[in-house]
Amino acid sequence: MSGFTLRRAEVKDASRIAHVHVRAWQETYRGLMPDSVLDTLSVERRMKQWEQILEGTANLYHLVFVAEADGQVVGFANYGKEREGDPDYQGELFAIYILKEFQGQGIGRALVQKAALGLLEMDISSMLVWVLSNNPYRKFYERLNGQYLREKSIQIGDSVLQEAAYGWRDVRILLGQG
Ligand SMILES: CC(C)(COP(=O)(O)OP(=O)(O)OC[C@H]1O[C@@H](n2cnc3c(N)ncnc32)[C@H](O)[C@@H]1OP(=O)(O)O)[C@@H](O)C(=O)NCCC(=O)NCCS
Repeated sequence: MSGFTLRRAEVKDASRIAHVHVRAWQETYRGLMPDSVLDTLSVERRMKQWEQILEGTANLYHLVFVAEADGQVVGFANYGKEREGDPDYQGELFAIYILKEFQGQGIGRALVQKAALGLLEMDISSMLVWVLSNNPYRKFYERLNGQYLREKSIQIGDSVLQEAAYGWRDVRILLGQG
């Protein structure tokens, strides 16, 4: 598909990223996460968080690619150094969200490839991702040959939820070079 373009996010994208972030959470997690969490999400608050994140290159989460289609930001991928000191996986895909009406066009795969390339530029060649265990979209990572690693519990609002990790020992496999 060629109806989209990808580029690195800038601080001025904070509000557009926040908009996608909040909408995608509400579209994806209804029924998987407490309604109280989803109903109190605020684009304004997320925008301020994204502004702060994108402003500081020292911030762990500052590396973001956005996807644009129809003249708007329709998705993003956030990646960087793995957060918890995993011995085998040095890179992490922190988040990837695409608005529902733009899914299934290859944007997700292209964003993951961009993140993989971004990690390789940092001399990082492995990557993991955490996904809610009950999120049916985890099949996307299986389709991209992610290896199932393990589960952990996380607290979201008042609920304790399960997350599953998928990993790529060599992200070049995502680029057809593995
Ligand atoms: C998961 C997500 C990022 C995938 O992006 P996408 O643009 O829809 O996926 P793509 O079109 O690039 O699909 C790539 C491949 O994965 C497959 N795939 C994508 N979503 C899938 C799903 N839910 N179940 C099974 N296969 C899936 C596609 O069929 C495609 O396979 P193909 O190469 O054989 O055609 C996107 O759908 C999304 O944002 N989902 C909601 C948010 C979410 O759950 N994010 C992950 C949180 S950790």
